[in-house]
Amino acid sequence: TIVPVILSGGSGTRLWPMSRPERPKQFLPLTADETMLQLTARRAVGERYGAPIVVANAAHVGQVQDQLATIGITPAAVILEPAGRNTAPAIALAALAAPHPESALLVMPSDHVIADVDAFHAAIAAALPLVGEGWLVTFGIAPDAPETGYGWIQTGEPIAPGVHRVARFVEKPPLDRAEAMLAAGGHAWNGGIFLFRADMYLGALAAHAPEMLHATQTAMRQAQVEGICHYPDADAFAASPSDSIDYAVMEKADRVAVVPVAMGWSDVGSWDALHAISETDPSGNAHRAQGGEVIALETTNCLVRSDGVRVAMVGVSDLVVVASGNDVLILPRGRSQEIKKLIEAMKESA
Ligand code: GDD
Ligand code: MG
Repeated sequence: TIVPVILSGGSGTRLWPMSRPERPKQFLPLTADETMLQLTARRAVGERYGAPIVVANAAHVGQVQDQLATIGITPAAVILEPAGRNTAPAIALAALAAPHPESALLVMPSDHVIADVDAFHAAIAAALPLVGEGWLVTFGIAPDAPETGYGWIQTGEPIAPGVHRVARFVEKPPLDRAEAMLAAGGHAWNGGIFLFRADMYLGALAAHAPEMLHATQTAMRQAQVEGICHYPDADAFAASPSDSIDYAVMEKADRVAVVPVAMGWSDVGSWDALHAISETDPSGNAHRAQGGEVIALETTNCLVRSDGVRVAMVGVSDLVVVASGNDVLILPRGRSQEIKKLIEAMKESA
């Protein structure tokens, strides 16, 4: 069986004001009535899958447990980090908690959209034989823009039908490099979903990030366990370097394979990305009153969200309007990446 590992420790700042430190993106119902975490957990259920291991921030223990209980999923373990050290140590904690050293782990971000779940399962089935042979497998998305927020994979020699060795893995390249890779062809985006044996991942850490392996081993050995909840030792975990799996392992490891998949994938990394994947009305509006109310007259191509207050607009177009709690965000469509600037400005004025 495959053990799903759900990474649920990110802060999702680019979807402010709905996504906040106390309730980040993965715990929000952004694309459907269910939250991103619930949709993720549901994706890996069935005879091929075991109970998931969830790795989250300790501050969110209640949300993780409640949201999964609501959809009838009981995790094998919930590992609660005292503070985030990025994805590489988080995955190490899960690998150390795997039921068996040779368990195949399906590492999934908790905040992505996958429209075609059948295609996702087909890609996993194609990847499984390689996992048995010790490969670290990643899933490649056909690129259509020079994205600098993704990892890029240069595909190498074929190793099975449709499957290639990764010739080079470039995490978050500068724009000129992304443009060159897009123009050259032979590249894929890293979807952030991985499949490998627990022992193979830990072996890659031993080779490329031994301090991280040591710190996470100590943290798990000294963990406090309450039912299915594991609290790794805070001091030991804090000693781990903070790094993503992409930089710590994927850029360095040798036996890395990429399985291409076309599954309607989006990482919903911004309000613009959410508008792009949302169903729109005939005027191009994507409204969702998540507990609030939206009234929009003569409005075109807008994304409008409210979780409380009533939002009323007339005669506007191409705006993103998000009302949450005491905060309202307004920006022209196409500029939602500039939230970073706003967050900096708000920190300064606080
Ligand atoms: N438990 C835990 N602890 N989870 C974490 C932590 C942490 O410290 N940090 C991030 N996560 C979770 C996030 O919630 C998210 O679901 C997932 O891990 C990936 O982290 P992101 O921070 O969203 O990574 P990214 O989007 O910048 O980049 C990754 O994803 C891209 C695709 O969306 C990389 O893998 C890129 O190569 C990839 O293209
Ligand atoms: Mg992400």
